[in-house]
Amino acid sequence: MGFPHPSHERETPVLSKYFGDPEARTLAGWRARGGYASFEKALGMDPVEIQNIVKDSGLRGRGGAGFPTGIKWSFMKPDGKTHYLCCNADESEPGTFKDREIMRWTPHALIEGVAIGAHAIYAETAYIYIRGEYSEPIRIMQAAVAEAYAAGILGANAMGTGKRVDVHIHRGAGAYICGEETALMNSLEGRRGNPRIKPPFPAVAGLFGQPTTINNVETLAAVPHILREGAEWYQQLGREDNPRSRGTKLFSVCGNIARPGNYEVTMGFPFGEFLNDMCGGALPGREIKAVIPGGSSVPILTREEAENTFMDYEGMVASGTMLGSGGVIVFDDRQDMVRQIARLARFYAHESCAQCSQCREGTAWTTRILERISAGQGNARDFDTLLSIADNMTGKTICVLSDSCATPVVSGLKKFRHEFEAKLGPDHSRGVVPVLLTSNRTVAA
Ligand SMILES: Cc1cc2nc3c(=O)[nH]c(=O)nc-3n(C[C@H](O)[C@H](O)[C@H](O)COP(=O)(O)O)c2cc1C
Ligand code: SF4
Repeated sequence: MGFPHPSHERETPVLSKYFGDPEARTLAGWRARGGYASFEKALGMDPVEIQNIVKDSGLRGRGGAGFPTGIKWSFMKPDGKTHYLCCNADESEPGTFKDREIMRWTPHALIEGVAIGAHAIYAETAYIYIRGEYSEPIRIMQAAVAEAYAAGILGANAMGTGKRVDVHIHRGAGAYICGEETALMNSLEGRRGNPRIKPPFPAVAGLFGQPTTINNVETLAAVPHILREGAEWYQQLGREDNPRSRGTKLFSVCGNIARPGNYEVTMGFPFGEFLNDMCGGALPGREIKAVIPGGSSVPILTREEAENTFMDYEGMVASGTMLGSGGVIVFDDRQDMVRQIARLARFYAHESCAQCSQCREGTAWTTRILERISAGQGNARDFDTLLSIADNMTGKTICVLSDSCATPVVSGLKKFRHEFEAKLGPDHSRGVVPVLLTSNRTVAA
């Protein structure tokens, strides 16, 4: 085909089919590839009918939590209130860069999915909230939205049907927390991007206090394909023995791997084959040591665990981790896991919005302790302290950023404890404990 995609014969390119094809970016090019036919069809359908097709397809949210999309849409009732759709294009999870490619190569696929989604939840207005650093995707998305308005696809008389569908592009300001759905809404409203306490859930009181649905880019970009090909077609993509994860999924692969990039496979693809064959395995002369399979917030797998995992929601859970955002980060035998985990903790400490004390304090102390261990000044009691802080950070806060910081620490300590132990300082056997929580003095325990 001449495009970089598919880059491997075992891929199933649906969303990525036109990655690398500059003509698919333009409205004319998108229409020539069947674009906007699904939106036209959707405008002639009752929203409940669309919700049911999406329910039947088995599509689940690709933003991380995997909530069934059709069910989420069915929470939105025709109540006469103003409804909103927010497309979450914040994509700041370390290791994740799939939404960026959807926006760069197929902006109209996303606009079409957003427009269908808006109609399906009785909304006339949709916002695409794009990560601030994504300058090129923002420019491409803005140009595509302008083209869609000029052609009468969007606006007060969408596709000549008399129905209004407006789509606005909103540029974030570079805060990871604004990817959390309620922080995203606060940010859109011009407030500080702090997550909100739920309930009320967005479907009841979301953007500007109105019923709102938030969906990820990849989730929405799949919808035109489902409407065109049918729920049954989507349903049959996936592992035969797991009816709960259907369709295709984009995985972003980075780190110590021969062929990094975005790959689209059917749900349930064998992870061992994915890493060693599709992505080319370890770099020459190296061995894969560990893999974070779903963005930095999910538990770390050893190579052996990863190679025996299926790439779907249930397969990942069975291996003790999560599918998350599909950002695969690979570490080879050169990597110092303590240092890597400390880097992740520093990221979460920096991005905490600081509303919850468990998160504000926990991310900061976790970082300090890990960095101290990494510098060879740790002691054996630090491990218990880290686990105790992690416990206090899990399931107790307004959003799960706090849990996300604890997760790699707990799984790292469990699976790579020998690396932590090898870092302990000369005084560790005496149990010398720096009094971290109150001062920077060091005293004997
Ligand atoms: C700290 C944090 C950051 C998040 N960042 C993103 C993000 O960048 N993109 C995204 O789609 N979802 C992100 N989420 C998940 C969203 O809150 C939300 O669940 C998702 O956008 C829903 O879309 P979906 O149902 O299509 O998956 C984040 C959640 C948390 C707690
Ligand atoms: S868990 Fe952290 S990021 Fe989330 S609301 Fe609380 S302080 Fe903010």
